Amino acid sequence: MGHLPDDLLAGLESGPWHSAAAWRAVLASDDDATVTEIVEIEDEPAGFVRSGPVDAPRGACRGIIQSIYLLRDYRAKGLGSALIDRARARLRDAVLTPVAIEAFVFNAPALALYRRLGARDIDRRTAFEHGGVVVEEIVLGWPEPPSGV
Ligand SMILES: CC(C)(COP(=O)(O)OP(=O)(O)OC[C@H]1O[C@@H](n2cnc3c(N)ncnc32)[C@H](O)[C@@H]1OP(=O)(O)O)[C@@H](O)C(=O)NCCC(=O)NCCS
Repeated sequence: MGHLPDDLLAGLESGPWHSAAAWRAVLASDDDATVTEIVEIEDEPAGFVRSGPVDAPRGACRGIIQSIYLLRDYRAKGLGSALIDRARARLRDAVLTPVAIEAFVFNAPALALYRRLGARDIDRRTAFEHGGVVVEEIVLGWPEPPSGV
């Protein structure tokens, strides 16, 4: 059984992060503080991490890793952990700590990874509602001063 409502999924672009238009839209919304880093492996795009200042309150956090995504072939090899470390270091240099990160409650692998990397749960809240279905997310944050970076 899926985690998101079928009619919601039906209305979404299939594999949005595999689409050049989606990548262009993400990059176009970067500014001096919010930065998308694209990772290339052997000259091929492998994924990205996007980080910047929080746009709404998330506990005491001033910075946030807004999105992180790796194409399937590049997962579970330590790359995501390295990208998170890099994004945290960038936010620390920009004085945007503590750093938050979020995941849907059903994204157990991502939540396990963030917790293993030292992030602690801050909040559980509604991410969005669709057709009577409430989808929740967990907000996590790395305590200040950042450890392990
Ligand atoms: C979530 C995501 C960014 C994590 O990146 P990743 O590169 O897969 O993560 P890592 O490899 O650093 O760590 C993941 C697991 O692989 C393990 N791992 C690390 N290096 C490894 C290696 N060399 N070989 C095998 N496994 C390894 C880690 O121990 C970790 O296990 P754990 O989660 O049980 O602690 C990535 O899996 C992804 O893009 N997923 C789909 C999109 C998504 O869910 N994004 C997050 C939205 S909030």
